[in-house]
Amino acid sequence: MSVWRYTSGLNADVVRHWVDRVAAAPTKGPKPSLEPAPHTGRELPFLRELHSQKQSKFTPWKLALPSPTTLVPAVLLLLILVLQLAVFPRLPSHYQLFRSSSPPPPNSCPSVPAYNPFVQELYCRAPQYTPNRLYRQTPHSMALAAAAERIAAEFEYPKEQVQKGVTAFMRQMDEGLQVQGATLSQIPTYVTAVPNGTEKGLYMAVDLGGTNFRVCSIQLHGNSTFSLTQSKVKIPGDLMTAKTSHELFSFLAKQVETFLKTHHGEHYSSHVERRKKSSMLSGESYSDEDVFSLGFTFSFPVQQYGINKGTLIRWTKGFDIPDAVGKDVCALLQKELDALHLPIRVAALVNDTVGTLMARSYTSPGKTGTLLGAIFGTGTNGAYVEKLSRLTKLAKMGPEAGDVETSTGEMIVNTEWGSFDNHLSVLPTTSFDRTLDAASNNPGIQMFEKRISGMFLGEILRRCLLALIHDPSTPLFTDEHSNQNDMHSTTNIHDDSPLYRPHGLDTSFLSIASGDASPGLKVTRQALDIEYGVSAASAEDAEAVRLISSAIGKRAARLSAVAIAAVVLSTGKLTNTTGNADDDTIDIGVDGSLVEFYPNFEDYLREALREVPSIGPAGEQRIRIGIAKDGSGVGAALIALVAERERAGGNASAASPSSGAGGEGGLLQSVLSSLNRNLRIRV
Ligand code: BGC
Repeated sequence: MSVWRYTSGLNADVVRHWVDRVAAAPTKGPKPSLEPAPHTGRELPFLRELHSQKQSKFTPWKLALPSPTTLVPAVLLLLILVLQLAVFPRLPSHYQLFRSSSPPPPNSCPSVPAYNPFVQELYCRAPQYTPNRLYRQTPHSMALAAAAERIAAEFEYPKEQVQKGVTAFMRQMDEGLQVQGATLSQIPTYVTAVPNGTEKGLYMAVDLGGTNFRVCSIQLHGNSTFSLTQSKVKIPGDLMTAKTSHELFSFLAKQVETFLKTHHGEHYSSHVERRKKSSMLSGESYSDEDVFSLGFTFSFPVQQYGINKGTLIRWTKGFDIPDAVGKDVCALLQKELDALHLPIRVAALVNDTVGTLMARSYTSPGKTGTLLGAIFGTGTNGAYVEKLSRLTKLAKMGPEAGDVETSTGEMIVNTEWGSFDNHLSVLPTTSFDRTLDAASNNPGIQMFEKRISGMFLGEILRRCLLALIHDPSTPLFTDEHSNQNDMHSTTNIHDDSPLYRPHGLDTSFLSIASGDASPGLKVTRQALDIEYGVSAASAEDAEAVRLISSAIGKRAARLSAVAIAAVVLSTGKLTNTTGNADDDTIDIGVDGSLVEFYPNFEDYLREALREVPSIGPAGEQRIRIGIAKDGSGVGAALIALVAERERAGGNASAASPSSGAGGEGGLLQSVLSSLNRNLRIRV
């Protein structure tokens, strides 16, 4: 155990406290109390020594005049204080014995320039904490900092690369519009317009994302507002890789049943009653009155053939149920809902990005329609409004494409940008990205997503930390370098630590570490302890973790900017201007844990947008990014509304109770006409 631990662990306030008491000791009058101020927390050995000195050697203070032996500790303490205040601050930080915690330095930039400008900036942008800049005080700390900086630097994604990325992205977007099977799938969604906020009604939606399954009912108020009732359940890990699709889809149907019973009990029981009656009356067929229209948000790549029909192309985000691939996912869900006799019709199949785009358009301020809905969560993807004339592959699809409503001249296209540049011509790649991909259940696929999304960022960090842990020359989570822990706490990684398990580190930890401004990075250290079995991590450990987390997050945000820039540029939105600032706003709806919680995500993203020459600061300012929280559910409900209206148009007598719950009035006609009229909804 090094002496640094004791000395640098000594709190200057405690020293000052003792010196003040010595200085203030009266020579006459009542006996001064020599008890030190109550000391909370674990006591450092050095302090214990001080306290015991006080008891044995300070006893003579009880005499009227202090003896020379009494004066020795006081003089010593005074000397230490003078040294600390007058001399040590002028020495380089790693020679200082005591650090002053106040006043805090103006920012968190290191005084000695870091590994490279990229790393230096990561430090400077990190939130400041007290005491600041703990490490670089011992050779071990410096070694750890240097190793962490080297790894962080691998995640640099400079501006020339951003520009290259945008060019390649635009090229791959074009390819996807022209041919089936391109890297960017550019899937037609059959939704050819966006809502305007006046739609009304009560609808249901379910959302199978990456991590959770949500069931919601949505009351659209018709004034750009809505009320949402929802339940959410984490998808059990074994169902993500279930043997049959029946296992997953019957679980989903069960959740819908529970939701209906809990939140729409009356509706559910009256339906069950009616069903019973109709089955008792021979010859009377069951009527589909009071059946909810449901929007099914299914956040995986699906080849859509109509508004409620689409076959699964591939699983992403850790799902792997081979027998579902190539099947119509709406039919799979409807079958399980029917098996439970639920009053629900799957009316629309919606990717979460399309839902986000619809929801943002419904709620966004002003008249400007939303251009892009994007998810930066467990997975990443974007859907945008494209000109039908550019979607040339539709014509090549023949009868498979179904009827396309052309009145708006536009269609929402689901890019499936998670698979941008799968062949890695422009994407930045570190050794950590490579090993992550090789160990994944879909190597070579979703390469963009594997650098951006919540499913993978935690795993990238885990791999970086393991590299440091396994490198004997780098003292991460070892006892040697800490100047924070007392001698009784031994830094230790438990054998069953999730850090040793693939995907054991959750991406939310990156947000915690990157945004940690707690004294001595306590929050990160506690999370390491409680969640990841690393006991007594030091502030230096936490700072190394924080630096790498920030680097991974910053690269993800800058890569996200590539996708946004490419969509903005390829749709020509920047060049088509009216001169009216409101109309020229380019609106983007986003959702997902990363964009919502990762510190500085939007700032980093916007910085990269400004660096793209054809966007620049002026273009970046025109881009408005708004969170469409849980937008996918609302968006799916909006599309279900349209589907139902279409259906009612075909059969006016079959009025739905959901539309009855408020009337739809004001429904955007062009949305209505957007549906594939050939499709009839299953009952
Ligand atoms: C899926 C997309 C989805 C995105 C966000 C990706 O893994 O392929 O369909 O939109 O995740 O949830």
